[in-house]
Amino acid sequence: MYTEKVMDHFMHPRNVGEIENASGVGTVGNAKCGDIMRIYLDIDDNQVVRDAKFKTFGCGAAIATSSMATEMIIGKTIQEALEVTNKAVMEALGGLPPVKVHCSLLAEQAVHAALWDYAQKHGIVIEGLKPPVNDVDELDEEEEE
Ligand code: FES
Repeated sequence: MYTEKVMDHFMHPRNVGEIENASGVGTVGNAKCGDIMRIYLDIDDNQVVRDAKFKTFGCGAAIATSSMATEMIIGKTIQEALEVTNKAVMEALGGLPPVKVHCSLLAEQAVHAALWDYAQKHGIVIEGLKPPVNDVDELDEEEEE
């Protein structure tokens, strides 16, 4: 049901933890399954993501996608990090079962929320970044329509 890569990131998740004095922190949840994701970003003066960590009350797919998502955004500019979609993360993992696709939205949206927090703290606007949602389930339904 899960690809080897998903299992690897689930069994050995990368970048689990917290960043003290993070440049941005984002927390989102999914009201339907009750899972929560928090992402911490360390962003340097050139607006490059130096480090990213996550903590989750989430299922295996949420763990695997946030592990992969944090790996994919480290070293990227904030603009590039914004473009790392849940679809790109799923592709990098070799796919997810359809019922687990919504789990990948948690990581994507928590990264967006952390970028939003960073932008607010620094008084900047990140082009294309929308205000964070608390419940990613709302986005899921929009996508299904
Ligand atoms: Fe909730 Fe996967 S079931 S994030």
